[in-house]
Amino acid sequence: MKFRDDFVWGAATSSYQIEGGQNEGGKGAHLWDEYVKEENGKVFENQRGDVSCDHYHRYKEDVQLMKELGIKAYRFSIDWTRIIPEGIGAINEEGIAFYNSLIDELVANDIEPYLTLFHWELPMELYKRGGWMNPDMPEWFANYARVIAERFSDRVKNFFTINEPQCFVGLSFSEGVHAPWLQLPDSQTLLMSHNALKAHGRAVQELRAHARQPLNIGYAPTSGIALPATDKPEDIEAARQAYFGIPQEGTWAWNTAWWSDPVIFGKYPEEFLVHFEKDLPKITDDDMKIISEPIDIYGQNIYLGYPVRMGEDGKPELLSRNTGYAKSASNWPMTPDALYWGPKFLYDRYKKPIFITENGLACHDWVHLDGKIHDSSRIDFTARYLGALSRAAEEADIRGYFAWSLMDNFEWAEGFGQRYGLVYVDFQTQKRIPKDSAYWYREVIRTNGACI
Ligand code: NOJ
Repeated sequence: MKFRDDFVWGAATSSYQIEGGQNEGGKGAHLWDEYVKEENGKVFENQRGDVSCDHYHRYKEDVQLMKELGIKAYRFSIDWTRIIPEGIGAINEEGIAFYNSLIDELVANDIEPYLTLFHWELPMELYKRGGWMNPDMPEWFANYARVIAERFSDRVKNFFTINEPQCFVGLSFSEGVHAPWLQLPDSQTLLMSHNALKAHGRAVQELRAHARQPLNIGYAPTSGIALPATDKPEDIEAARQAYFGIPQEGTWAWNTAWWSDPVIFGKYPEEFLVHFEKDLPKITDDDMKIISEPIDIYGQNIYLGYPVRMGEDGKPELLSRNTGYAKSASNWPMTPDALYWGPKFLYDRYKKPIFITENGLACHDWVHLDGKIHDSSRIDFTARYLGALSRAAEEADIRGYFAWSLMDNFEWAEGFGQRYGLVYVDFQTQKRIPKDSAYWYREVIRTNGACI
């Protein structure tokens, strides 16, 4: 298995999922803080992230854990409402101080920080003003990005703007399965997506303009990957078309090209503009210039794929999965080839250095009688996915991999019911125990993948 010598081996988390410290340090409220308060059965066992992994108080211990596990890079996110409690206006110095200490701790331990600006903590005050629907949202986000650049870019040089817009627009406002559990018409969610993409572009501009050093700036969308049913050229072509085309299942938000073509090419996919014509927001040339502000690296969160072949009508045909297919505790299918075809399709089309910004497995882990967590399925899963990624790395520019997640955490609507961590968290005592997979991953990192 071959990865480049400077391959970035990392682990990822996000703020609300691990921090806790909900009413502390002058933090404002965001959408998830507020919407999990309703005990309406939308979140598994009505759980909330108020304390979660208590990382807000235990970040030093968590950085030591990373060091012990040989993790070289840490992708974390900043909670906008810790920095600017109302989204715009006064800066909260206590919030800045928290992230300063975290970053200092990482740097002191030789762990490279990769900072995500937005992993879904939409300030409540901005949401009350329409949130992503408000045309001022890109400027509010730009202002936040400027603060981040001014305060943190002396030590942080790697940034991702927004994480999975497919989810914070699609799952939250179209499918209604994430806070605030709404199912709005396409005309509204398409407007949100346009504003989110403008916010991304404005953030790139502000980060660059106020950077204290040259930065690597990227973007972290997600997608299921279309997997060719065979190696025949027509099935590969069908998968490529399905991957970048209008989704045949689910809402429009699961469209890869809609979210990434504008960022890289400065235009929305033509097919989509025609198909959704009546629901489109106003789109100007100036908007497209902002959205396509050049980025340096392309991140993609990849967990799974779905089989596709070329149909007899010359169009991609989605196939059903084999009976009894392997799946995770989140019922997601195990499809290692997603880490071959995903990066390959993305690189062929966008030609940007690629980071896998998230990949991992939800398991029903528990502490075994010997006090350890034997998560052999996570090891097997990761070995298979990394095998596929190493094949992709022979054909595409793959720069890094972030395991999701460093530790078990609040899995959004699934609460604490799904464990993704390399490190087990006992949510009663806050004790952390590295799982077998964490020690295995340490060896993977040490040997640059050669041990797999
Ligand atoms: C992607 C999201 O970015 C992350 O927050 C989530 O926990 C994982 N997928 C697993 O669902």
